[in-house]
Amino acid sequence: MTQDFLSPSAAAACRRPLAEAYTLPPAAYTDAGLWHVEKSRVLARSWLPLARVDQVPGAGDYLSADLGGEPVMVVRGEDGAVRVLSRVCRHRAALVAEGQGCRKLFTCPYHAWSYDAAGNLVRAPLMEGAEGFDPATLGLHEIRSEIWEGFVMATLDDDAPAFAPQISGFADYFANYDLGSFFVARTLDYSHGWNWKVLAENFMEAYHHIAAHSKTLEPGYHARDSQVPDTDQPWSILHMPAADRDTPQPPVPGLEDWQLRDLIAANAFPGLLLAVQGPFMAWYQMTPLAADRLDLKIHLCFPDWMLAMDDFAAILDGAEASIRGVHAEDIAANDLVWAGLNAPLTRAGPLSPLEKSIWQMNQWWLDQMGA
Ligand code: FES
Ligand SMILES: [Fe+2]
Repeated sequence: MTQDFLSPSAAAACRRPLAEAYTLPPAAYTDAGLWHVEKSRVLARSWLPLARVDQVPGAGDYLSADLGGEPVMVVRGEDGAVRVLSRVCRHRAALVAEGQGCRKLFTCPYHAWSYDAAGNLVRAPLMEGAEGFDPATLGLHEIRSEIWEGFVMATLDDDAPAFAPQISGFADYFANYDLGSFFVARTLDYSHGWNWKVLAENFMEAYHHIAAHSKTLEPGYHARDSQVPDTDQPWSILHMPAADRDTPQPPVPGLEDWQLRDLIAANAFPGLLLAVQGPFMAWYQMTPLAADRLDLKIHLCFPDWMLAMDDFAAILDGAEASIRGVHAEDIAANDLVWAGLNAPLTRAGPLSPLEKSIWQMNQWWLDQMGA
């Protein structure tokens, strides 16, 4: 099926060494049939971030999400463990929860079956007389999860290799940022009419600073200085050195001077998108919903020690203003890309050597798609 959308020559053009490589063809973003293939081969088999553990601090706290089409929730049990549970009732499939909150029991709105915060079915009214009915076998499905640096990662694939070992190089890169101590201070909600890869690609190259962010990011982080390390693991890191190497930065224990100045964009494929600078992290949480639709939450995260700072509220407002400003510029650029990708004469185009992260993601994506 893939071949219908990705001809061998289109795949080969993406597979060339970076200096000669082309983008994915437009259908890789726009085609509804390919989206279904991608959903099963990429999104259902990958580890995706659903929450940070600090978003469910107490027993019964839950946060709904969508994992490759499965309605799920991240919930902390009475035992303190964070689990990822399907939200689909084991009776006749109504959703037992939506949004977020705190509950002792998740009672299905349809026939009032009740599940505890570990997903066990603890009550099913009027089921006397149903032969073979065994509540012990009818808990909410638990979905495989792993906590990495405070991120609740989950996958629908029980056979996928464990997450952390696959990204050891990525973890090494962020080792002294202590990302596990960060908390979500504020979340910005967006909904976009593009394919999720349009956003991921935009996030992972600094080449567009020269035009789309000419007045915001380019003066501080020159496109031409950006670097992407080699790796044979499923991640990419875009290092954007700060143009200003002289103005003293307030020190942060554990961080080197360059880590306070430079902006790092990172993606553990396909979608753990982080922008990190010193004691600040913007986590771009994508929820791909269709070939042409994605929800995006931008979580502004800080290490917990910053909460005690007198000017933390002002720092947070400042971070929101600058992220909103830059994202508005990215929205404008991505809208133009989306219009072009849907045009009949559009073909794949050549990548700049500054777009190595896109090239790295493409190699991984083609592997997953079996192309
Ligand atoms: S569908 Fe949930 S109790 Fe019937
Ligand atoms: Fe951008």
